[in-house]
Amino acid sequence: MNTIEHLSQTRNITREELELLLTTDDRELVEQLRRTAREVADAVYGKRIFIRGLIEISSHCKNDCLYCGLRRSNRSAVRYRLTEEQIYDCCATGYRLGFRTFVMQGGEDGWFTDERMCRIVSTVRRRYPDCAITLSLGERSRESYQALYDAGANRYLLRHETASATHYAQLHPAEMSWQHRMDCLQALKEIGYQVGCGFMVGSPYQTFDTLYEDLQFIRRFEPQMVGIGPFIAAHDTPFADQPNGKVTYTLRLLSIIRLLQPHVLLPATTALGTLHPQGREQGILHGANVVMPNLSPRDHRKDYAIYDNKICTGEEAAECRACTEARFARIGYETVVDRGDYKPNTP
Ligand code: 5AD
Ligand code: FES
Repeated sequence: MNTIEHLSQTRNITREELELLLTTDDRELVEQLRRTAREVADAVYGKRIFIRGLIEISSHCKNDCLYCGLRRSNRSAVRYRLTEEQIYDCCATGYRLGFRTFVMQGGEDGWFTDERMCRIVSTVRRRYPDCAITLSLGERSRESYQALYDAGANRYLLRHETASATHYAQLHPAEMSWQHRMDCLQALKEIGYQVGCGFMVGSPYQTFDTLYEDLQFIRRFEPQMVGIGPFIAAHDTPFADQPNGKVTYTLRLLSIIRLLQPHVLLPATTALGTLHPQGREQGILHGANVVMPNLSPRDHRKDYAIYDNKICTGEEAAECRACTEARFARIGYETVVDRGDYKPNTP
């Protein structure tokens, strides 16, 4: 049994196998990894891609993550927040375009109190009973997560960023805590959300050891979704001069995660599309099965600048929707009008 068969059958990987699979230039082995991951994705989800309409509701953030262009110390970042009406308009447009999941994402912005956010979630819930509501609003209290869930939210995306507490401390200011991030993820799961965790590939100070911990964390936590994308340097941040993450590592990690967790929802991220013109298509061909086209109003898109040179900042929602469909049709995949729920493991 070779490494890929072993990985596929045991749904586990050793630290040494991980390093080997990321660094090897044995083309046959690399292609076997990709092919096997895609076969597994096909077996669970078919040649279907789930789409999520991403609404970037606020570029304000109280945090100061060293890698992020929206960190509070970045005085050159342009700050905006959508009004409730703008958010509802995005949903209406999205629904017409065939989106059945809305992802409301933003920095940690105190303006979006529980009261405001619950009103928004319950309004969207009432207007679109057939849609999934995903939130990606960072760390909040358990009570807040519970209230938002009760208001009608179904899913929550909160990347763990790194499973190593030491590495976490190298990416974040002292007032942010790895343990608190872990506690948030646990609370979300206990409340009943479908949870997405994830990490950047090639973030500063990342090693094969920390990546190995990330994969073992994913195995233990069993999230419904895992979001990974390459680190991309953002200007006016402490990591502005750090090298970008590698596309090849990101693609191989997508395949590895697919083999570790065959049923997981795995997005081909915008960051991957930013570093390579065919990055998202390659992501799908390596085992991803989700994409998250942008539904945000075009006049604010360039200001949701987490990293530099982000794609899709000049397009309208309808353009991204059409582009997505065409891109994946060209490689033989269908973008479906579907909530795209997690398909639980059947014994
Ligand atoms: N490059 C790539 N991804 C980034 N994120 C934040 N900053 C960057 C960057 N410079 C990711 C983080 C965060 C998500 C919203 O975006 O993982 O959780
Ligand atoms: Fe936005 Fe292609 S997905 S332009």
